Amino acid sequence: TLNQQYEEKVRPCIDLIDSLRSLGVEKDLALPAIAVIGDQSSGKSSVLEALSGVALPRGSGIVTRCPLELKMKKMREGEQWAGVISYRGFREEIDDPADVDEKVREAQNQMAGKGAGISEELISLEIASPDVPDLTLIDLPGITRVAVKGQSTDIGDQIKRLIQKFINRQETISLVVVPCNVDIATTEALKMAQEVDPDGGRTLGILTKPDLVDKGTEGTVLDVVHNDVIPLKKGYMIVRCRGQKEITDQVSLPEAIEREKAFFEDHLHFQILYNEGYATVPKLAEKLTLELVHHIKKSLPKLEEQIENKLKKTQAELDRYGNGPPPDASEKLSFLIDRVTAFTQDAFSLTSGEELKGGS
Ligand code: GDP
Ligand code: NA
Ligand code: MG
Repeated sequence: TLNQQYEEKVRPCIDLIDSLRSLGVEKDLALPAIAVIGDQSSGKSSVLEALSGVALPRGSGIVTRCPLELKMKKMREGEQWAGVISYRGFREEIDDPADVDEKVREAQNQMAGKGAGISEELISLEIASPDVPDLTLIDLPGITRVAVKGQSTDIGDQIKRLIQKFINRQETISLVVVPCNVDIATTEALKMAQEVDPDGGRTLGILTKPDLVDKGTEGTVLDVVHNDVIPLKKGYMIVRCRGQKEITDQVSLPEAIEREKAFFEDHLHFQILYNEGYATVPKLAEKLTLELVHHIKKSLPKLEEQIENKLKKTQAELDRYGNGPPPDASEKLSFLIDRVTAFTQDAFSLTSGEELKGGS
């Protein structure tokens, strides 16, 4: 089962990274960030909230106006939901998932102003819960061509530059979100991802809104998901999220997951994708988590090397201090004199502008 697979394969990796992190090596290990990119209203925030179980600001027009880093940590069964939002040195704990939407909007107003402008500054949202996957995802403003009232005329270029900044990093996996009712070949986000990742080794296509597919074009959607149209090494997944009406009707996220399953199981054309394991948000979460584990395993040799180097350096530094004061009282004074002399020399070379010998 999925849970078994998680406990056996994923949990040990995540635990390893956690213990390394508590030793302070986190900054040496570039964990992959997963950036969500796509046109405005393609369904980016919907995919993120379905993965996290937390309602995020979403809707029509430009809603995501700052990069939002969503760090999710899977807790063991029975533990409490906990959230923390931080930006620009500000940090606040959130106890109720229902408050997240408002807190993110407040943060965006602080960083990008109250209008329709964007900011490159990152908002970080940490969520710990038994119901989330161990993933870090980044929501980005959607690609747009025309500026609306209150936006500078080069808003399209600003947003593209912002997206490029994130997807250029080799550790970033790009989730390219494309609705089923648009022509994937003309999708700007996919073109941008292909520019930085020509063979699609770190690009995953996500098709959204399968319920809105134009009648007669279902076959094309099948071809895309089967990787026959624009092939990507990581391939494609297809998901169905809440539409505007379901949000108005306050359909909960767990209920939406049930509806999504029923949708694919019953769909004349798309049920095959469900049977093949290419469909639904839970399958997507599983795939992303396995990608993360794959990346961690790939990084382990490099990490081991870094740790060994650090150990050697520390050992060398330790050796400089010798074995500490000798037990014999008569030798203690000469030991102390040696240390003080060494210290004075070090201090002297520092004040004379010279670097400490032996330092790095
Ligand atoms: P973003 O701008 O890319 O972040 O897009 P949003 O997640 O805000 O979604 C834009 C609109 O599309 C919202 O009204 C969503 O309810 C709707 N939407 C997202 N996914 C689906 C889907 O699978 N089916 C339907 N019918 N609507 C969807
Ligand atoms: Na939107
Ligand atoms: Mg959005």
